[in-house]
Amino acid sequence: MSAQKLHQIAVIGGDGIGPEVASEALRVMHATGVSFSTTDFDLGAARYLRDGFVLDDATLEELRNYDAILLGAIGPAIGDPRIPGGTLERGLLLKLRFSLDLYINYRPFHGVAGSIAEGCSFAIVRENTEGPYAGEGGVLRYGTPFEVATQGSVNTRHGVERCVRFAFERASRLHHPKVTLVHKTNVLTFAGDLWQRVVKEVSTEFPNVETDYQHVDAACIYLVDDAQRYGIIVTDNLFGDILSDLAGAVTGGIGYAASGNLNPARTGPSLFEPVHGAAHDIAGKNLANPIAAISSIVLMLEHLGEEAAARQVAAAVAEFKGDVTVLGTSGVTDELLRRM
Ligand code: IPM
Ligand code: MN
Repeated sequence: MSAQKLHQIAVIGGDGIGPEVASEALRVMHATGVSFSTTDFDLGAARYLRDGFVLDDATLEELRNYDAILLGAIGPAIGDPRIPGGTLERGLLLKLRFSLDLYINYRPFHGVAGSIAEGCSFAIVRENTEGPYAGEGGVLRYGTPFEVATQGSVNTRHGVERCVRFAFERASRLHHPKVTLVHKTNVLTFAGDLWQRVVKEVSTEFPNVETDYQHVDAACIYLVDDAQRYGIIVTDNLFGDILSDLAGAVTGGIGYAASGNLNPARTGPSLFEPVHGAAHDIAGKNLANPIAAISSIVLMLEHLGEEAAARQVAAAVAEFKGDVTVLGTSGVTDELLRRM
């Protein structure tokens, strides 16, 4: 057997429930026996409120040296007026996604017992560096009655194609290989046409993968009514953001939803985080569901090539039937560790 690789993990615990779910996730990673070290990075709302720091180029360069990044959650308490909207979103999270070229946001969902989508498994492949998130646009005549605000959706051939190709590659591994493009091609005709043409072209490279299309509004109905129709949903940045909250809700709650912000080209580390936010209202009370963070560790282990460890954690999560509100944050982890 070859020597075990030591994976160097950067940990951004962040705010609210972020640090607690991140540390539960690391407990689980530790239990797999995979060899890794962690370095904490103090970033997020609490840090910003302390000294005004968000993220600079030196820290970004430092993060590039790690094999992966685990992020708990970042963000101020809802309504905290001390942090202007977008400061952390654009200055920290999106800066990481864009600078590290994390061009895929991979979000798998498995309907837990009792959920609307019980038994359904599907994933959202969300383009993660473009669309309305790109930062195109601006404001003219600010504060006047004639103010103009524009925020365009940027869709590049390169960005769409690499996202769509990733979606087809993932779909080709499924028992029933299927990619559903979700967009709004009947209204967003320029961007929609590009996405549709790219899907058509890339699909020819994957003859075994069934291809489907839905408008985003219709997809909101199908996610609730018939989620089993999905394999991989591929979509743009904003549609993917919105659909993943809905997908989380129908599969058991956002507390179960994991994500991998991936750089499949491996020109830098990928970042793994629960889909949920900082939930300051339940922070420090042992109430947060750690499963979203723990399932994000599954994605991290897969990305690091630790397939067996990933399967071990995924199996424990799949078997978990406990009541999170009864067990509490650390109790859920204890229960998973018992099954591993
Ligand atoms: C997510 C979040 C982020 C997003 C926010 C915090 C910027 O909602 O990861 O889904 O919109 O992408
Ligand atoms: Mn979101």
